[in-house]
Amino acid sequence: PNPERDRLLQAYEWTAKFYHYLLKNTEHGKAAMDYLRSRGFNDKIIDQFQIGYAPDRWNTIVQFLTNRSFDLQEMEKGGLLSKRSDGEDYIDRFRGRVMFPICDRNGKVIAFAGRVLGDGQPKYLNSPESKLFNKSRILYNLHQAKPSIRKLRQIVLFEGYGDVISAWEAGVQNGVATMGTSLTESHAAMMKTMAEEVVVCYDGDRAGQAAAMKAIPLLEGVGLRVKIAVINEGLDPDEFIRKYGGDRFQRQIIDGAVSTTKFKLIHLKKNHILLEEDGKIAYTKEVLPIIAGLPSSTEREVYLKELAAELELSFESLKQDCNEIRQSMLKNA
Ligand code: CTP
Ligand code: MN
Ligand code: MN
Ligand code: MN
Ligand code: MN
Repeated sequence: PNPERDRLLQAYEWTAKFYHYLLKNTEHGKAAMDYLRSRGFNDKIIDQFQIGYAPDRWNTIVQFLTNRSFDLQEMEKGGLLSKRSDGEDYIDRFRGRVMFPICDRNGKVIAFAGRVLGDGQPKYLNSPESKLFNKSRILYNLHQAKPSIRKLRQIVLFEGYGDVISAWEAGVQNGVATMGTSLTESHAAMMKTMAEEVVVCYDGDRAGQAAAMKAIPLLEGVGLRVKIAVINEGLDPDEFIRKYGGDRFQRQIIDGAVSTTKFKLIHLKKNHILLEEDGKIAYTKEVLPIIAGLPSSTEREVYLKELAAELELSFESLKQDCNEIRQSMLKNA
């Protein structure tokens, strides 16, 4: 038994319900509701994800918790309140933000992410780590995604809350996200206990694609099969779904996810001008070791053929270079 932990869990549960109520039923919540609607979030999805609103006031939650006899110092340590800058009193940690409750795998609220309405910094304010909340072990939406993950033996990994939510609405219900931090080994190990395959569906911008490159070795390292969903125009999954609809997201982006090798080829290509000899050669030098490292000769042949066609080079010369690289890799291993 851990009474402090239980009290904090109780506070989070009630606060989440209160934020949700304030969003849906009060004047305070109106602007936030308009913001959510403008993003395409309907009532059903707002309920499903228990989205809420923290009013732009100093003491809404201070009052709420005081009325329920919680110890404010304990609640500050637990991340629901902040200390006033003069160190005297307590104030609400989240003010004027749309609130996304973060749940553990059993569906208990253990933290919040609060988004500003529109522009402003920081865009998301998260709960600090606490007795309940360890960022590197939490995947957003895991509690709701579990049945679908078990059934499909597959997880779709997103960057953001909005991506998970819009994908859910589009019928992709095995989606989770890390919490603004990059993926850790412990996330990967958790995923491996539930699924065989992960589809990495990060934002289509540079940062997202670079993060996908980093996620590959972590996920493959625990023995997961990995595919990468590539979104063009720099859109994130949420924006893609708004623009092109859920069906197309499912078919083109999720079902069309590519192998990690293919993704690496696409990603590295962006650094080179393939119309120039130097560019062709530099690109080839970068990608041949990736192909040479593939254990299956069929796989190597598939990618070498694609590369030959794309660069207008002969398959034979590429294959010869590839074999040489492979020999020296095997020798050095
Ligand atoms: N993030 C964060 N703090 C920030 C910015 C981002 O914690 N100041 C995290 C959030 O988990 C966010 C994710 O990183 O969901 C991805 O960042 P980004 O793509 O910038 O945000 P979006 O999820 O696209 O946010 P939105 O659609 O609400 O603009
Ligand atoms: Mn509700
Ligand atoms: Mn992003
Ligand atoms: Mn994004
Ligand atoms: Mn977004």
